[in-house]
Amino acid sequence: MNRKLIGIGAAFLLMLGFLACDPPETNGAAEGNDGDGEVTEDGPSGIDNAGITEFPDDPALVEEGEELFSSLGCAGCHQMGRDGAGPALGDVAERRSAAWIARIIIDPAGMRDQDPEAAALSEDFPAPMISTTSDPDQIKAILAYLNAQ
Ligand code: HEC
Repeated sequence: MNRKLIGIGAAFLLMLGFLACDPPETNGAAEGNDGDGEVTEDGPSGIDNAGITEFPDDPALVEEGEELFSSLGCAGCHQMGRDGAGPALGDVAERRSAAWIARIIIDPAGMRDQDPEAAALSEDFPAPMISTTSDPDQIKAILAYLNAQ
């Protein structure tokens, strides 16, 4: 066998690998989603996360986040230690990724429609969450606060 043939053989094997990997991926995207994008532990990619993918590592933001949590009305539905009109959030930063939380803050209705976990969670509460901010800086401060609980 000459080099050219080996090259073609390798390319063919690579292509087979691609084909073999593709179907589960596309099936996953079709499930529980309107085809807008992929649903991962970060939530559906079609829902805005304001570019937030990490909990901010800035202690100065924690206090600002606590104030926003009250002034934006989150505290009216959420407590840290126990469920109220919404779920307890004391350990939410351990259970959810920063992007997932950003998405539910910006678009809770979209999350109920497209994210299976948000949909299931919503069944435990009589009234759904509403959005009161989509400002990236406010969301980052809230994330710092939630991560400090
Ligand atoms: C009107 C009540 C209400 C308000 C206001 C509200 N939420 Fe919610 N929240 C809920 C409910 C109910 C759920 C469960 C999902 C659903 O039904 O949409 C929820 C879910 C969540 C979750 C996911 C919790 C988990 O266990 O995974 C987070 C995080 C969250 N809210 C944060 C916030 C933040 C931050 C604010 C303020 C910017 C806020 N919420 C405002 C009622 C509310």
